[in-house]
Amino acid sequence: GETISIGELAKELKKQPKDIIMKLMNLGVMATLNQDIDFETAEMIAIEYGISVSKKLTEEEIEEKRYNFEDRPEDLTKRAPVVTVMGHVDHGKTSLLDAIRNTSVTTGEAGGITQHIGASEVSLKGEKIVFLDTPGHEAFTTLRARGAKVTDIAILVVAADDGVMPQTIEAIDHAKAAGVPIIVAVNKIDKANANPDRVKQELADRGLLIEEWGGDVISVEVSAIKNIGIDTLLEMVLLVAEMLELKANPKRPALGTILEAKVEKGRGPVATVLIENGTLRVGDPVAAGATHGRVRAMFNSHGKTIKQAGPASAVEITGLNDVPTAGDKFYATEEERHARAMAEKRQAELRVSTLRKTPHISLEDLFNQI
Ligand code: GTP
Ligand code: MG
Repeated sequence: GETISIGELAKELKKQPKDIIMKLMNLGVMATLNQDIDFETAEMIAIEYGISVSKKLTEEEIEEKRYNFEDRPEDLTKRAPVVTVMGHVDHGKTSLLDAIRNTSVTTGEAGGITQHIGASEVSLKGEKIVFLDTPGHEAFTTLRARGAKVTDIAILVVAADDGVMPQTIEAIDHAKAAGVPIIVAVNKIDKANANPDRVKQELADRGLLIEEWGGDVISVEVSAIKNIGIDTLLEMVLLVAEMLELKANPKRPALGTILEAKVEKGRGPVATVLIENGTLRVGDPVAAGATHGRVRAMFNSHGKTIKQAGPASAVEITGLNDVPTAGDKFYATEEERHARAMAEKRQAELRVSTLRKTPHISLEDLFNQI
């Protein structure tokens, strides 16, 4: 294809050649002044400077703008809350969700330990709530941090027989860092040695003052096993959600976060996506981190095939060309090539960070060549 020397490109863009070389390094390309680079790379440099050089670029810029655009107030509609259940290992997070969903996920877990973010949707008096389960085991800090980031409300589960423990504190910190309101669920109150007052005291010691104690944190005493207090807890969730006045624009292309992803035999890469805004449809071109593709099939949290999903939905999709990384941002695009361009840009960024970790050539060497 077409090529251009770095010297020429610098002249075209009215920039210093060494600045161009720095930009190229940022894209993972090592080059010297007299070296020719291909036109596509030159275009990427131009994008970096915000200069459009062709029609293709202009379209891409439009695409970029669409992600950053502010939703018009008239397009906004009420959306369901995303609620993350957090707390110390074995305090009963999954059991609580089982009680809420009338399922029994806990019994199917290896060693009874949650190792991923499980997403589920529940309908309550016609109101939808999206729940994310998180692991309490200390090894899964990043999953908890991610869970706190994408959520609207955190349910902090504390076992009444065990009290505030290290991952309880960690969960409080994640929720506070993410600016997410906390609802405390004091669980296992059916146990003979349950001591809910001690839990409340310990929470107060950690700066989490519940209503009974003159604070503003809602707390509900529950038993996941004996099905006590579950309805009250759900009412509180809806109450807090109501106060948050959560809104989204179903008319825009979908925007979200990858919760988890894996390869499945016969299905290829399978990703669980939390759609935060917009509507995702089967056939939509999508980008997620360094991966891209088209939505081939989509399933809701009950495993049912669906054709489209609106804001605040947890769905499973197939059709990506590779396995994205949990936590990657997810975008639907109008044109497939835009999705590909976004994924390639991310790949280039990843290459740069890999290069930074394994320097083959020093900056000094590079400039000595100029
Ligand atoms: P991780 O996901 O590993 O962090 O654990 P978890 O918080 O999801 O706890 P899980 O729901 O797996 O429950 C741990 C144990 O506590 C299980 O044996 C449950 O049966 C038990 N348990 C959970 N809730 C209650 C409760 O309300 N009362 C009693 N007595 N036991 C409970
Ligand atoms: Mg669990």
